[in-house]
Amino acid sequence: MRTLLLRSGYRGACFTQIQTVTSRTPHIASPRKAATIATRALSVPPHTFSRSLFSSSLHLRNSMSRLDTLPSMMNNAHLQRTLPGNIYISTHSVNFIRKFAAAAVAANPSDTESSSTTDRDPNSVAYWLLTVAALTYGIIVLGGLTRLTESGLSITEWNLIKGMKAPSSEQEWQEEFAKYKETPEYKVLNHHMTMPEFKRIFYYEWAHRLWGRAIGLAFLVPLGYFLARGKLSRPTATKAIGLGSLIGFQGFLGWYMVRSGLDPQHVEGRPIPVPRVSQHRLAAHLMTAFLVYGGCVWMGFDVLRSNLGKDKLEALRKQLDNPALRPLRRYGYALLSLVFITAFSGALVAGLDAGLVYNEWPLMGGRVVPSDMWNLTDAKGEKVERWRNLVENPSAVQFDHRMLAYSTLASSTALFMYGRRLPIPRPAKAALHAVMALAYCQAALGIFTLLYLVPIPLASAHQAGSVAVYTAAVWLVQAMKAVPK
Ligand code: HEM
Repeated sequence: MRTLLLRSGYRGACFTQIQTVTSRTPHIASPRKAATIATRALSVPPHTFSRSLFSSSLHLRNSMSRLDTLPSMMNNAHLQRTLPGNIYISTHSVNFIRKFAAAAVAANPSDTESSSTTDRDPNSVAYWLLTVAALTYGIIVLGGLTRLTESGLSITEWNLIKGMKAPSSEQEWQEEFAKYKETPEYKVLNHHMTMPEFKRIFYYEWAHRLWGRAIGLAFLVPLGYFLARGKLSRPTATKAIGLGSLIGFQGFLGWYMVRSGLDPQHVEGRPIPVPRVSQHRLAAHLMTAFLVYGGCVWMGFDVLRSNLGKDKLEALRKQLDNPALRPLRRYGYALLSLVFITAFSGALVAGLDAGLVYNEWPLMGGRVVPSDMWNLTDAKGEKVERWRNLVENPSAVQFDHRMLAYSTLASSTALFMYGRRLPIPRPAKAALHAVMALAYCQAALGIFTLLYLVPIPLASAHQAGSVAVYTAAVWLVQAMKAVPK
C-alpha cells in the first residue's frame, strides 16, 4: 500500500487530503515524495483541480465506501494541526489526484523512487501491443501477396484521407486506369491489361494501404489513451513513442518504394531496367515492418513478464542470474540478427525476381557458386563493382540468400544442442525448439518455392514462414533476458 498526500487551497479554505493508493499507482513510492509530486501537480493546473475537488467534495457522503484514510499519517504533527479529523475523499477526486500526480510524475520523473518503471494495467498494454503485432504480421503477408500479384504500382498517388475510398463509378475507374496507363509498368509489361484485371490489382494495393492506416490507428489511439491516463511506465512510453515513429516512417517508406517503380528515369538507370520497385527500397520496407513487428512482440512479452507477480519474478530472476546462461543469451541475440539478415537477403531475392533463375537445388548451374556471380554489367555494358553484384545481380543475390539460410539452419541447430541441457526457463526451452523447427520448415518452403518457379501460394507461405522464424527468435531472446532488479 502506498500513500499520496495532497494539499490544496480553494477560495482560502485549506483541503488536506490523504488517500491510500493501492497498487494501481505504484509509481508513488513514499508519502514524502507523493506530497512533493502532488504539490507540483497542483501548481500546474490549480484552478481545474481545486474546482473539481470542491464539487466532488459535495459527493463525499455518497462515496464513503470507496474511501480510505491512512492512520499512520494522522500521527504526523503538522497534519494534526491542519486537519480537523479524518478527511475522506471521493472517487471522483481520487481520479483527479491520480491524473495530476501522473502528470507530475511524467514532468518530474526523478521525484519518484521507482521512476515509473511499472505499467498500470499491464494486461491491457500487453494485449494492445500484441494486437498491433498480429496486424503487422497480417500486413506483411498481404504486402507479399501484393508484390507477388504485381499489384503494387496500380495506385499512382498517395493521399492519406482521399486514398481511403476506392473508385465507385465507372468514370472514377476510368480516371484511375488512365493514370496507371502512364506508368512504365503498364507501358512495358501490361499494355494488354483490361479493366477487370486492373480492378483486381488495384484492390490488392488499396487493401494493403488501408490495412496500413488501420495499424496506425490501432497503435496511436490506444497509445494516446494510455498516455493520457498515465498507464504507461516511462520506459514503455518512450519505447512506444519510438515504435509509433517507426510506423509513421514505414508509411513514408512504402510510398518512397512505390515511387521508384513509377519514375521512368529511376527504372531506366538500373543495370536491369525492368519496371518494378527498387529492390533496396522493397527490402528496407520489409525490414522496417519486421522491426515494428519485433518491437511490438518484444514489448508485449516484456510487459506480460513484468506482471508475473513478485514471487514468480523473483524465482525467474534467480534462474536467469546463472552465469552459465550468459553465452546462450549472447548466441540468442546473434541468431536473431542472423534471421533478420537472412530475411533481408530474401527480400532482395523477391525484389529482383531472383527466384526465377537457377530453379534447382542444391547446386546452381551444376556449381556451388554460380558462374555468373560477378558478371553484372551497367547500362554501358561495363562490369560493375563486386559489391554491387551482391545486391543487384540476381544470381549473386540468390546465392547470398542460400548461404545465409544455411547459416541460420546451422546456428539454430547448434544453439538447440547447446541450450537443451542448460537449466533455462520453460518458455526459453520451447522457443529454442520452435526456432529450430521453424527454420527447417522455412528452408524446405524456400527450396520448393525455387523448384516450382515461385508459385504464389508457396512464395507467400515462405514469406509468412520468415516472420514465424523471426518471432521464435525474438521469443527466445526475450525469454532469456535477465530480470532487472
Ligand atoms: C531460415 C531460412 C530462410 C529465411 C528466414 C528466408 C526468408 C525469406 C524472405 C523474408 C523472403 C522475402 C519474401 C518476400 O518478400 O516476398 C524470401 C524469399 C525467397 N527465398 Fe527465402 N528464406 C529462407 C530460406 C530459403 C531457402 C533455403 C531457399 C532456397 C534454396 C529460399 C528461397 C527463396 C526464394 C526463391 C525467395 C523469393 C520468393 C519470391 O520471389 O517471392 N529461401 N526468403
